[in-house]
Amino acid sequence: MGASEHIVITDVGPRDGLQNQPRILTVDERLRLIGAIADAGVASIEVGSFVSPRAVPAMAGTDAVVAALQTPGPVHYTALIPNMKGYELARAAGARCVTMVLYASEGMAQKNVGMSMAQAEAATADILVAARADGLEVVAAISVAFACPFDGATDPGVVRAVAEKFLALGTDQIVIADTIGAGNPQQVRSLTSDLVRDHGADRLGCHFHDTRALGLANVFAAVESGIRRFDASIAGLGGCPFAPGASGNVATEDVVMMLEQMGFDTGIDLGALLRASDLAQELTGTAPGGRAKAWLKPWLAKQSGGVEPTIA
Ligand code: COA
Ligand code: ZN
Repeated sequence: MGASEHIVITDVGPRDGLQNQPRILTVDERLRLIGAIADAGVASIEVGSFVSPRAVPAMAGTDAVVAALQTPGPVHYTALIPNMKGYELARAAGARCVTMVLYASEGMAQKNVGMSMAQAEAATADILVAARADGLEVVAAISVAFACPFDGATDPGVVRAVAEKFLALGTDQIVIADTIGAGNPQQVRSLTSDLVRDHGADRLGCHFHDTRALGLANVFAAVESGIRRFDASIAGLGGCPFAPGASGNVATEDVVMMLEQMGFDTGIDLGALLRASDLAQELTGTAPGGRAKAWLKPWLAKQSGGVEPTIA
């Protein structure tokens, strides 16, 4: 692996993280958090979801969040959608990229959106056609790529087939999502190396939850396979309300620290990222915060001469 090779991090905290917090943030608070993450140099942020406000009350107002982020700038924003209605709402709000969810199990498709896997695939294919005409980018995340809380272990062949189909249909990026944090590094290495061998790494990303403390190990396994795009969540916020046992995503600050120490370039300023992490903890009251922060704060202070000017 080459030194200073670039890795793109998408912070999904404002969506995957906030959707499952006991405290529902206002649109202004969500925009403050997104602004703090962007200020740290995070190049890509998932800012919310266009889902039923009855299903996920914390994501109501995502149209206002997206509409407030219209000024062209360096940050790539995306919003999650579950169906064509979500696509239409995202487009109307001014979104330039949407993240549609596909499924590697029938149980999760049914519980999350009341669809079969095939119905979600048909909706995604329709969304790709509409998005091409509208000039929007489409990311497709394959949910429960390693195990499903309802159907058990996932057959990697199912994930490979869904990925292949949607890469062939021109999806801008496919994200392999370990929704409940059930994969181990060996499974991750095996699946991601097959995918990279067959399709190259450019349009592939990974999304890990830290439920069993394997989040970073799984990131490492995927990096070794050549994956260069990762979702992570500021302060380790997260958990899917429809997937029992799903805890937070792997924390952005942990992933960035590991990758930077391995010689990769994420373009992210760790001091500013820790400020965003502090803000996430302050706003939600429940964000666990990554493991790295306790060590990073004094280390960064030492780097800057014993004072702590860049860290609140
Ligand atoms: N955004 C907002 N409202 C939506 C919607 C969307 N993307 N899709 C459907 N709806 C509305 C419908 O218009 C309908 O409204 P009405 O009752 O006022 O007529 C209502 O939701 C129910 O629609 P229906 O098609 O019967 O579906 P449902 O009740 O089975 O709900 C979803 C389906 C997809 C809307 C709902 O399950 C959902 O939002 N799931 C998201 C889950 C999620 O975010 N998971 C975590 C991320 S993976
Ligand atoms: Zn997730």
